[in-house]
Amino acid sequence: MRTVEVPLEARAYPIHIGPGLLPSLGGRLAEACPAPTAAIISDDNVAPLYGKIAVASMKHAGYRTALMVIKAGEQSKSLAMASGLYGDLAKASIERTSPVISLGGGVVGDLTGFIAATWLRGVPFVQVPTTLEADVDAAVGGKTAVNHEAGKNLIGAFHQPRMVLIDTSTLATLGERDVRAGLAESVKHGVIRDAGLFAWHEANVEAILGRDEEVLAELIERNCRIKAEVVATDEREAGLRAILNFGHTIGHAIESDGHYALRHGECVAIGMVAAARIAVVREMIPGSEADRITALLDRLGLPTRAPRPVDVGVLMAYMLQDKKVAGGRIRFVLPTRIGEVVTVSDVSEEEIAAGVEAIQAE
Ligand SMILES: NC(=O)c1ccc[n+]([C@@H]2O[C@H](COP(=O)([O-])OP(=O)(O)OC[C@H]3O[C@@H](n4cnc5c(N)ncnc54)[C@H](O)[C@@H]3O)[C@@H](O)[C@H]2O)c1
Ligand SMILES: [Zn+2]
Repeated sequence: MRTVEVPLEARAYPIHIGPGLLPSLGGRLAEACPAPTAAIISDDNVAPLYGKIAVASMKHAGYRTALMVIKAGEQSKSLAMASGLYGDLAKASIERTSPVISLGGGVVGDLTGFIAATWLRGVPFVQVPTTLEADVDAAVGGKTAVNHEAGKNLIGAFHQPRMVLIDTSTLATLGERDVRAGLAESVKHGVIRDAGLFAWHEANVEAILGRDEEVLAELIERNCRIKAEVVATDEREAGLRAILNFGHTIGHAIESDGHYALRHGECVAIGMVAAARIAVVREMIPGSEADRITALLDRLGLPTRAPRPVDVGVLMAYMLQDKKVAGGRIRFVLPTRIGEVVTVSDVSEEEIAAGVEAIQAE
């Protein structure tokens, strides 16, 4: 087992990574979060696969445990869904000390985290991610959210988990498309912070796509270390943490515009290509560096263009509604080389149009 610590003083927590960890959930929580009751929130794909093991582990550790199952998919990240679940928490006697556990991908994690942040003004939150996207990104860092019709993740709270338990064996049942989508955030971490990680992807494409267990465990650990370091430096995104939004400015707009038909990671891949193009237009990086990003995403089976024609005006409207807007200006994270990015808010409409042109459907 590998363990990465997220050093947040009073809110510090461990990320445990390894095969077959799920049955140890209850035992690991018994000391950190003693309580009579617990809730596990999962979705209707994940619950049939792993719900029983998780519940059994919690019960074995002495928790009266309720399993709550939501419909899979981004649509479930809503206030309406949260509202229904609050009723279930009341019925399950979830009190101030009771752990509320997310068992699933980023959708379940963001929604469960939001519920844990708000129920009784905050109860212990535990992340048991089951997608690569959540393993390398969503489960770490304490950002929780639900969507609003005005845009993605507009309603939320910072609420750090008490523990993240990554059972890498759960990736065996994950669909091919979801594995690839998760890799987009991993490439993102390489571009923003770690040229070595980026090159490691380039050298290990086959092993990664072949789901080599050791290679995936290393990938997850390296990503968690980067995310933990960034989050520990800037928990509430006063500065540095914003670099994690690389690829997300245009990516989120495409995600909202496509009404969530694409995976989050797929939109991030497209968004990274657009952002890299903007950096080239601004002469911040040579075209060859942008090409390297596009080529790696392509080899990993990720889209590098929008699947259907996109309108720059429509995307701009979504970008202006995004949380990343400051004083009416859209903020972009742009690479200055692979391994380093800067945040800028003076990207012109022409430069944005050039970025969108680079990802326009063929
Ligand atoms: N909070 C953050 O910091 C953060 C960071 C990145 C992404 N996110 C959010 O995460 C979400 C995307 O997460 P995601 O890609 O994990 O999507 P997801 O949760 O929708 O999971 C993808 C699909 O895989 C299924 N699934 C999950 N685990 C499985 C398994 N082990 N075996 C078989 N099927 C499985 C799910 O039911 C779903 O159909 C977005 O809403 C995004 O905004 C949040
Ligand atoms: Zn993301």
